[in-house]
Amino acid sequence: MIVWRDDLNIGVEAVDAQHQELVRKLNEFLEACTQQKGKEKLEETLEFLLAYTAEHFHDEEALMQGNHYPRYEAHKAEHDRFINEVTAIQTQLKEKGASVLTTIKLNRALVDWLINHIQKNDQLFGNFLLKKEA
Ligand SMILES: [Fe+2]
Repeated sequence: MIVWRDDLNIGVEAVDAQHQELVRKLNEFLEACTQQKGKEKLEETLEFLLAYTAEHFHDEEALMQGNHYPRYEAHKAEHDRFINEVTAIQTQLKEKGASVLTTIKLNRALVDWLINHIQKNDQLFGNFLLKKEA
């Protein structure tokens, strides 16, 4: 279970709200895993993640471009990599199915990526915007 902490907020209200929604959904999935229902929930979670991150990343990228963020290209590359990886996992699962263990491992990887990305890269962008506005 991921507990939302203040230091995960980057200071852009719309972005923070989307991040919290992602965390909420991942927590739902973690919860399902602890009740041995992770496998059933996996497909739905991956579908949600792909649809939601497509929109969320797009919003973040538009905000970056609109503010001439110098690290835009590198940041977008991270987003693209995430989408590609989740898509690859989804394809693999459709073909081979998942064990409980891979489901839990996968969940951990998604959570780690997201929290790490928010703390490092999204935070950098938040700081950039704050300085710009100051
Ligand atoms: Fe991002």
